[in-house]
Amino acid sequence: MSQKGDIGVIGLAVMGQNLILNMNDHGFKVVAYNRTTSKVDEFLQGAAQGTNIIGAYSLEDLASKLEKPRKVMLMVRAGEVVDQFIDALLPHLEEGDIIIDGGNSNYPDTNRRVEALREKGIRFIGTGVSGGEEGARHGPSVMPGGNEEAWQFVKPILQGIAAKTEQGEPCCDWVGKDGAGHFVKMVHNGIEYGDMQLICEAYQFLKEGVGLSDDELEATFNEWRKTELDSYLIDITADILGYKDTDGTRLVDKILDTAGQKGTGKWTGINALDFGIPLTLITESVFARCVSAFKDQRVAASQLFHKTIGKVEGDKKVWIEAVRKALLASKIISYAQGFMLIREASENFNWNINYGNTALLWREGCIIRSRFLGNIRDAYEANPDLIFLGSDAYFKGILENAMSDWRKVVAKSVEAGIPMPCMASAITFLDGYTSARLPANLLQAQRDYFGAHTYERTDKPRGEFFHTNWTGRGGNTASTTYDV
Ligand code: 6PG
Repeated sequence: MSQKGDIGVIGLAVMGQNLILNMNDHGFKVVAYNRTTSKVDEFLQGAAQGTNIIGAYSLEDLASKLEKPRKVMLMVRAGEVVDQFIDALLPHLEEGDIIIDGGNSNYPDTNRRVEALREKGIRFIGTGVSGGEEGARHGPSVMPGGNEEAWQFVKPILQGIAAKTEQGEPCCDWVGKDGAGHFVKMVHNGIEYGDMQLICEAYQFLKEGVGLSDDELEATFNEWRKTELDSYLIDITADILGYKDTDGTRLVDKILDTAGQKGTGKWTGINALDFGIPLTLITESVFARCVSAFKDQRVAASQLFHKTIGKVEGDKKVWIEAVRKALLASKIISYAQGFMLIREASENFNWNINYGNTALLWREGCIIRSRFLGNIRDAYEANPDLIFLGSDAYFKGILENAMSDWRKVVAKSVEAGIPMPCMASAITFLDGYTSARLPANLLQAQRDYFGAHTYERTDKPRGEFFHTNWTGRGGNTASTTYDV
């Protein structure tokens, strides 16, 4: 084996350390560096003891210990720190060397970095890495994009360390040029937000509405593990619901109900608005976190109308199954919307993203990994031009089967006063999306009435615009028509 390293990793926080150990397990020689160099020694004498991992104590030292073309992976905080490291690395790199950013970077930053570094002869990859600490250590989902020339050099390493499906396929493949990898990771995180909020809505409805006991709740989620809902997030929810604090009561009940967020869900929502894609469920899940963060305001407002939650009467088992179906159907809508957003970006930026492969990347290793993603992959393999996931036969069948229970659960939640932003927005989206006619005729009339914005007519060809002088006082001059 060559004495030089196959790859250098900068950043020895938990994700960085675990990725390095994973690379080492797969036979790659890794050079580890951290800005606070005492961490390098701690790592070498701790978790990395007895491995082939080498330490570096400066960026110059790191560069000198790497096989060419050098491959340097940044596992540092997204944002300015990435630019700082790139700038600091550049004097030590040569034409053709490769920098890989494995953090949760915002994809416009990745677009910019790929271009700026290309001009300097350096090949840049921005890759999503999902799966938390466990994933990083034993097989994450990896979503690389950027300068495609670099892919052949990093492919063996990234595919080597990635999670594998049951059939042995790596959950890592080239996503597309520029920021495509980070864009897909961003949508992954948005979907993660949606899935988590949906589970929380099911939990609150069953706990506070239907009145399931702690044991019943835990048993319910354990049962759901055996259904189409089978996924990492359902697994951990069952574990969390069963986890007892030192005094024997459930820890989850003692956790303050204010959710944090680091921004990737928000970026997904912002992009949905920018691209004009109705990503209603994910966006509601971001807002649900925002509402949760208003703890003091909520406590005060809870007194305004003496808020209580109504009891949901009826057979518990029937409600549990209805909620399961509502959760599954809502999840289909969330993924359908997420894939619409990926398609829009891909077409806009000429990324040529393969949607079936994207589902495969998420099948194992990442936070949203699930059986369900295998079905999404099948749907896109059968029809790569599929626009709405709900029109695939398998998903259409689930939506049809869930429809009446889904409506019942959402209606009952409104009646009982249980907030259900995501499940409700999902059914509302489906109702709108499947409506051949919406009330936008009236909306267009309103726009034309107050601003002469014009409208098209049902009895005239598309593209012909009309203005009416609604009051007799306005003129007949229409404003220019354009859409953002
Ligand atoms: C992953 C996760 C991860 C994300 C955290 C925190 O794929 O491993 O998505 O990248 O940073 O889940 O996200 P929030 O703090 O925004 O919930």
